[in-house]
Amino acid sequence: MNESALKLQCPYQADRTVSRQSLKKVSIKGYYTMRVLHKIGFVILVIAVVIGSIATYAPALFFKIPNVGFILWAMTGGAMPPFIITGPFDSGNNDWLKDGDVVVSAAAKSGTTWMLFCSHQIRTKGNDEKHPFADVSLSTPWPEFIQTPGESWETHQREKMNTTILPDGTSLKDYWDHKDYPFRIFKSHNHPDQFGDLIGNGGKGKKIKFLAMARNGLDQVASMTPFFNGHIDEFRTLWGGFPPLTTWRTTREDAAERMEELKPGGLLANLSFPYVNKWWKVKDDENVLLIHYADAKADLSGTVSKLAEFYSVELTTKEHTDIVEKCGLKYMKRHEHMFRYTLPLNTDFKASIMKTGSMIRKGENGDGKDLFTDEQKETWRLLEEELYGDDPRKLEWARHGNKL
Ligand SMILES: *[C@@H]1O[C@H](CO)[C@@H](O)[C@H](O)[C@H]1NC(C)=O
Ligand SMILES: *[C@@H]1O[C@H](CO)[C@@H](O)[C@H](O)[C@H]1NC(C)=O
Repeated sequence: MNESALKLQCPYQADRTVSRQSLKKVSIKGYYTMRVLHKIGFVILVIAVVIGSIATYAPALFFKIPNVGFILWAMTGGAMPPFIITGPFDSGNNDWLKDGDVVVSAAAKSGTTWMLFCSHQIRTKGNDEKHPFADVSLSTPWPEFIQTPGESWETHQREKMNTTILPDGTSLKDYWDHKDYPFRIFKSHNHPDQFGDLIGNGGKGKKIKFLAMARNGLDQVASMTPFFNGHIDEFRTLWGGFPPLTTWRTTREDAAERMEELKPGGLLANLSFPYVNKWWKVKDDENVLLIHYADAKADLSGTVSKLAEFYSVELTTKEHTDIVEKCGLKYMKRHEHMFRYTLPLNTDFKASIMKTGSMIRKGENGDGKDLFTDEQKETWRLLEEELYGDDPRKLEWARHGNKL
């Protein structure tokens, strides 16, 4: 019996009360289900409105939510990883750069920190007693790395690079912009498209030099695999759970996920195939030096010479020998604390963000071979053929460098 039929039959209040009771008996279950659904619907609506408002007005608030904050950030269109932005090198925004500056823009997990340190050794001619390499974020900073959620290069970091006083009373600027340095060094992971007018515009932009470095793709994925878990928990907390800790699963499972992320369409796709393709196109430009990780491993001495020539630094034999030693794995391992990334622009954050032992790894050529199934290796091989196949030299180089 539906309600209108009931009304017709029961025109008087007393009767209606009785009828309502019987109605309840009939449909009590459905009625409560409906009410619960309404409530759930309402709660979902409220959550959606709250998330929408946060996304619009204060997206950095997402990072206050433990463990999953970064997921809400990503779902509402936030860039990933959340602490890497674009902008400092864009045309029209890059007036803070000076002619002669060097940008070490290696592919991620392909020797970036290594080449930053080595470039610093070259600019100081190996005299790191006088000009110690303090930490990557101090001596060779990464402008696209946001150190406090909600801040940006334009609103805060550009200024703080000049004005920050470190806990020991020294000025941050003296580390990255020291008057004795022949050039300043900055870190990036960008490909040329992301450098605005600084590459390939016939010399109209500033005269910046770019050191680019690629690595065998499987080795890159292999190096990326322990990297997420290598961050300290305080850093994860700062960014609402990113990068997520996956110590509960196997290394091979981590490796499989990193591989998906680095494939075309993946979250980190720009860091692999497009990186190689786009740098390959400009590798003969005067202000670009593109090298391969495998070659630097095989011939560090030759690599130091190549870099010094590119930076127009003349080295004596003694200086060259010292620098080669300092750029070597043994020396860098002994000074591992320099490479774990502090956050000098975030004065609330006192630690280095990487765990001890997570940054300076052996990084042998061929690391990727043992970590992947034959099927995964085959998939990667086919992707390389498809995406580098337009130039057989590039395909060969991307896999092994020149020194096979
Ligand atoms: C530092 O100060 C200079 C001079 O005022 C300014 O041009 C630059 O944008 C500031 N920041 C950086 C990172 O150079
Ligand atoms: C990848 O690079 C292109 C520029 O070539 C850029 O438009 C895009 O936003 C980048 N993607 C990510 C996820 O950074």
